Amino acid sequence: MKIIIAKNYQAMSKLAADLVIRELKEKRQTTLGLPTGSTPLGLYKNLAKACLGEKISFKEVKTFNLDEYAGLAKTDGSSYHSFMQNKLFNFIDIKAKNIFFPDGQAKNLRQAGAKYDSLIKKHHGLDLLILGIGLNGHIGFNEPGSDFNSKTRIVSLKEQTRRANAKYFAKAEDMPRQAITMGLATIMKARKIILLAAGAKKSAMVKQALTGKITKSAPASILQNHKNLTVILENKAAKDLMAVKPHNY
Ligand code: PGA
Repeated sequence: MKIIIAKNYQAMSKLAADLVIRELKEKRQTTLGLPTGSTPLGLYKNLAKACLGEKISFKEVKTFNLDEYAGLAKTDGSSYHSFMQNKLFNFIDIKAKNIFFPDGQAKNLRQAGAKYDSLIKKHHGLDLLILGIGLNGHIGFNEPGSDFNSKTRIVSLKEQTRRANAKYFAKAEDMPRQAITMGLATIMKARKIILLAAGAKKSAMVKQALTGKITKSAPASILQNHKNLTVILENKAAKDLMAVKPHNY
């Protein structure tokens, strides 16, 4: 695991973008795994700028988003489809046919999970997966208690997650109680992973996930076992970590 501590959110976003840009320059047909949330917004702005400046192209890139709410129409302003469209896809030259999400509207959500995993496999797996981390240590919507062998599947959202994400909905009660998420095993199969975290409130969980016991109660802790993990932390999110091992980073 490589840990980079950035001086602020802008620096974290720029460092992450540089890694993605490097990947895309090396392999134009990269398959990316992408998160939603507030953490990757700066990264997405940098990628849009790089694409606009013709430093990179997404014409041959495929993207697989980590998760989607169950039951929300793709066109719903609060869906992750809409989020990605508004924050990234509208500003880059990606082809619509190369954008993939788990199908939160499928009649059979169980099958939809398995279908998503086979689709990732059919595209030769994820070259690079970007992750954020939840306050409770979730990655994707793999909430505490998720099995390390889990595949893409339907999950129930914890109250803490529902509170954290309620801001994306007109009314808190509009927020779905379930989502479909890449599983932890699906995530661990990505050839490279970049984990991003920003803000002081993530600091305790970042420390626990990266230096604590590998446990289902902090799902992100499984990332300690990944062979090619780069963690990029905004300074504030690294506060507790630096208190433990100040010389290593
Ligand atoms: P955030 O969410 O980027 O909005 O903090 C991260 C997550 O819940 O995985």
